[in-house]
Amino acid sequence: VAHEKPGPSSIEWLTVRLYAMPELYAALLDPEPGLVADVRGWIDAAARPGWRDVLDPACGPGGWLLALAGREGRVLGCDLEAAMVEYARERLRGMDGDLRVGDMRDLPFPDASADVGVNLHGSVGHLEDDADVLLHLRSIRRVLRPGGLYILGITVVEPGSGDPGPEVLWSRPATPIPGGGQAAILYESESRIPERRRERIRVLLLTRGVRGAPPVIQESYELLTFPAAALVAMLDEAGFGIEGCRHMLVETRPDLGLVPDAQDVTLVLRRR
Ligand SMILES: C[S@@+](CC[C@H](N)C(=O)[O-])C[C@H]1O[C@@H](n2cnc3c(N)ncnc32)[C@H](O)[C@@H]1O
Repeated sequence: VAHEKPGPSSIEWLTVRLYAMPELYAALLDPEPGLVADVRGWIDAAARPGWRDVLDPACGPGGWLLALAGREGRVLGCDLEAAMVEYARERLRGMDGDLRVGDMRDLPFPDASADVGVNLHGSVGHLEDDADVLLHLRSIRRVLRPGGLYILGITVVEPGSGDPGPEVLWSRPATPIPGGGQAAILYESESRIPERRRERIRVLLLTRGVRGAPPVIQESYELLTFPAAALVAMLDEAGFGIEGCRHMLVETRPDLGLVPDAQDVTLVLRRR
C-alpha cells in the first residue's frame, strides 16, 4: 500500500497554535459562569469597596476582562500575541480600556492604574524561570494601586513528589464556533518532572468546518511549577501578602492555605 505523501495541510498542523487563534480560544476557553462568580466573590470580599479598574497581564482574547469589568471601570490587558490583542480590543470595544501587545514581565501600563489584576489558567507557568516570575510580580505590583489585589492561578508541586502519571486535566465536547463550524478540546498532563519544576501539557484540538483551522491541532509545552515554600518567599520578596489560597481541584474551591503539593490553586494576593 502506497503511503500518502503529507500534503501542505499536514505541515500546517505542526505549526498552528491555539494561542494564534483567538476566536477558537474564546469559544472553547472563556471562563465558565460558576468560576467567574467564585472569583468575583473572592475579589468583593477582599478588595477595597468600589473596586473597578481590572488588569489581565496575559489577556488572551480578553475573556476574564469581559467577565469582571463593570460599566464604570477601565480594562487594561496585554499579551504577546498580536492576534489575541486585536480580538480582545474588538470584544471590549466601547469600554474604557487599553489593550496592547506587551510582556507580562514588563507591563506597558502606568504605575498604580488598576485595583485588581487577574491571571488565571496557569499563564504564569509560561515564564521561563523564577527570575522571570519575579520580574512579572514586580511589574504587576507597580501597576496595581496600593492595597490592590492580584488573583493568580498557579501550580504548586514539591520537588520530591514524583510523577503521578498521565492525566486528563480538562476537556470540552463539540462546541459551535461563532464564525461557523465546531471544535472540541482535550488538555492532558503528559508528565510531571518535579525536580525540573516542569509539567508537560498536551493539547488536542479537533475542528470541523472552522474557517482557517486545520481539522487536528496537537501541541505540547512545558509549564513551570512552584514548591510552596519557595513561592511564599518569592511573593514576599516581590511585595505581596497572601490573603487566600483556593484549591481549584476541590469542587467548592475552598481556601485550604498555600500548603506543599497544593496542585492547582488560585491565590488571592494583596499588594503591600
Ligand atoms: C491561557 S492564555 C490566557 C487567557 C486569558 N487570561 C483569558 O482571560 O482568557 C495564556 C496567554 O498568555 C500569553 N502569554 C504567554 N507568555 C506571555 C508573556 N510573557 N507576556 C504576556 N502574555 C503572554 C499567551 O499568548 C496566551 O494568550
